[in-house]
Amino acid sequence: MAEANYTTVTLQVHRFTPRAERAERARGGSPFARKSSPFGGGADASARRRPRGKQWVQEYTIPARPEDTVLDCLMTIKRTVDPTLAFRYSCGHGMCGSDAVSINGTPTLLCTASVRDWAKQPSALPQVDDEGFRHIGSERAVRAESEVTATGALSIDGADRTDANAKNATDAADTAAATSAVSNTQTTSGSLGVIELAPLPGFPPQRDLIADIDPMLNQIRKLTPYLQADGVLATTSEGKVDVFEYLQHPDQLAKYETLSNCIACGVCEGSCPVFAGGDAFIGPAALVWSSRFINDSRDTKAMARMDAIDTADGVAACQSVRACSRHCPRGIDVGEEMWQIVAKVRER
Ligand code: SF4
Ligand code: FES
Repeated sequence: MAEANYTTVTLQVHRFTPRAERAERARGGSPFARKSSPFGGGADASARRRPRGKQWVQEYTIPARPEDTVLDCLMTIKRTVDPTLAFRYSCGHGMCGSDAVSINGTPTLLCTASVRDWAKQPSALPQVDDEGFRHIGSERAVRAESEVTATGALSIDGADRTDANAKNATDAADTAAATSAVSNTQTTSGSLGVIELAPLPGFPPQRDLIADIDPMLNQIRKLTPYLQADGVLATTSEGKVDVFEYLQHPDQLAKYETLSNCIACGVCEGSCPVFAGGDAFIGPAALVWSSRFINDSRDTKAMARMDAIDTADGVAACQSVRACSRHCPRGIDVGEEMWQIVAKVRER
């Protein structure tokens, strides 16, 4: 497939501008307002989780190459087209975790997502009808898929087989025609396709692509995410404080090394259908951080850490959906870790 020399990509950005805080809220709001949530949080948190403001979808078409990242595209827009577009980033290399958003409905990092991988031809994007339902394929394609599945499970007679072959041939021709149409579109228009961007799901949006990830960071903070070890304070012969040294076997390190790569990006929490803001579930990221220290042989607070997560909104709230495993940018099998930590807490 020949690629055009000059290519563009279209970014459909879900934008949000918060409404200015009203004076009544500063004075305490309505006397009938609910003061606290049974799951914690309180009035401030519930106010924060109901952001109000203007929402709209804005399209930007800019020059781009297939190997550009989506973050590159947003930087181009910010510098040359629309300086009001808000998004968060820092390292640009998948190390800081500050730029997690939803790309085509999937939580991931802007700086590691390439245009080549995420741009879709408009016809391939799910269409949303008037009632807000997303259509993920044509009725005919869905029927063909279910028939192919059924054909694999059941034997069919000769006549049916002929029909099925004819139908498959038609579908194959349709697919080839669609592929060729996409290819022609790209060659003639130079468009690599469309990428849909929205703030990270499960967190309240603050502005445009920036979500408020404080609920996740607060949950991690509550679980004391630092080493608590008994060390003997060593002093030198001159009486000065010497360094602590904790020796650890490579096998002991292997138990938590992968977990220590978590960058608290929130992608797993954005994928988790139970988390949704953190009121009823402390979330997979907080449990990963807790598990990292529980599995560290130098830490002396493993029992207290397990007590802290053995609550209704702790390990008991995990439904083992395992959606959290799919997109962790640091390669942590979050769902498996949830499984391990739940078993460890129950067996203690
Ligand atoms: S476990 Fe992975 S996806 Fe979840 S916060 Fe840590 S790095 Fe991000
Ligand atoms: S900008 Fe740091 S992880 Fe993407």
